[in-house]
Amino acid sequence: MNSRVLYGIENHSSGEQREPKAIIFACRWCALIGADGAGKKRIQLPLNFRLIPVECAARVEPDSIIRAFSYGIDGVGVLGCHLGGCRYHNANHKALKRLDLLRKLLDTVGISSSRLLTSFGTAHEYHQFAAMLDGFFQQLRKFPPIDEWALAQMTDEGKG
Ligand code: FES
Repeated sequence: MNSRVLYGIENHSSGEQREPKAIIFACRWCALIGADGAGKKRIQLPLNFRLIPVECAARVEPDSIIRAFSYGIDGVGVLGCHLGGCRYHNANHKALKRLDLLRKLLDTVGISSSRLLTSFGTAHEYHQFAAMLDGFFQQLRKFPPIDEWALAQMTDEGKG
């Protein structure tokens, strides 16, 4: 995991607020443009999220997502280019497969896969980005805090 990603996760996980917290990994060729547009248009967005730009959605390792949850982040989003439009030889296809596997793991250990937002090619426009984020936060508000036991199953604490 690179240091910028780790810094973003750690520094967003502190604080006492109960409003859900989210980390959004945004491909710079797609969702980051939508996020930038939303900012320029001054669209009202949920306050409690941190955007982490990535070169490609495929650069987001499952480990980064698990680590975000382990720091108490309520939801994680991975937003990339549409399938077939990835700048790196369909790397986002592989990312999608990895994320689907991670979803199964999240459900298996009791952390709902609904806490993981994945989207490919649907957040390029500012209004798409804003609507997606708003919907994700509405969903996250229905969840209780992340179950520590479930998190332990996914990390080294759960071994042995
Ligand atoms: Fe955007 Fe790969 S370059 S998902």
